[in-house]
Amino acid sequence: MTTETMSLPTMVPPAREATSAAPETTRAAARGETDPEPQPAVRVRDLSVTYGTTLGIKGVDLDLPERSVTALIGPSGCGKSTFLRALNRMNELFPGVATSGEVLVRWDGRFQDIYAPGVDLVELRKRVGMVFQRPNPFPKSIVENVIYGPRRHGVTDRALLAEAAEEALRQAALWDEVKDKLNAPAAALSGGQQQRLCIARALAVRPDVVLMDEPTASLDPISTGKIEDLLGKLSKDYTIVIVTHSLQQAARVSEKTAFFLNGELVEAAPTLQMMTNPRDRRTENYVTGRFG
Ligand SMILES: Nc1ncnc2c1ncn2[C@@H]1O[C@H](COP(=O)(O)OP(=O)(O)OP(=O)(O)O)[C@@H](O)[C@H]1O
Ligand SMILES: [Mg+2]
Repeated sequence: MTTETMSLPTMVPPAREATSAAPETTRAAARGETDPEPQPAVRVRDLSVTYGTTLGIKGVDLDLPERSVTALIGPSGCGKSTFLRALNRMNELFPGVATSGEVLVRWDGRFQDIYAPGVDLVELRKRVGMVFQRPNPFPKSIVENVIYGPRRHGVTDRALLAEAAEEALRQAALWDEVKDKLNAPAAALSGGQQQRLCIARALAVRPDVVLMDEPTASLDPISTGKIEDLLGKLSKDYTIVIVTHSLQQAARVSEKTAFFLNGELVEAAPTLQMMTNPRDRRTENYVTGRFG
């Protein structure tokens, strides 16, 4: 299914400069596989999602370490997008969806069940923002896209909005390219620039967690490299979950990788371990290209 048709306005905040790590240097390797996993920002327990009679995911347990990148991998239809959308309750936009289990997001210093009655979905999607596979800027100017979220959350002061826009565009490594044409239509940007604009839009509301569903799938290698560089910087401030079909991308950008198959989480481990020494034969088959 295409997620880009849903355009819930949620995106987010700040980081530092994109550095080009040598491609062979995985983030996982750089951090050291023996380092303890940071405490989780999100804790998922026994999570199942069905669409009518169709299984989305079943019984998933997974912790998403804070200020870190977690990659979700697995063949088409295995439930990666379903899992991702469960983290900010976006599956509920589809008719006939049933969700069970727990998704606990650390919020005001404690874990809160986002499926508990009374959860404010606008606030949830501010904290847990999303970037889609295809850039989906609103048909507005560049700056209007970025300040859409802050405005919606009540910021009216023009100076504050301008500040928020600059900060988010800098974080998304787009500021230098657009600072002289902030009022130009977003549609006039290149695809790679539009995707960074969507990341800026997500960051402008200062989320804690940013969900990215194949964010570079529609981009050329140079734009892909820019987004990957960006992820390294953003993970200093944000908890990031990225779905990717590229094992190389997972290795380059993530510390932790989770492998899904037929709606189940087969294995989750430090990325280097997953790529070189997975515990489960099915993971091994997938990462060595022998799957199927
Ligand atoms: N909106 C929906 N309505 C009905 N079924 C859905 C919907 N979204 C996903 N599914 C089903 O749930 C299962 C998991 O799909 P999902 O989109 O989560 O997989 P995926 O791993 O993201 O696949 P891909 O790599 O192709 O994006 C599939 O059987 C799919 O057909
Ligand atoms: Mg998907």
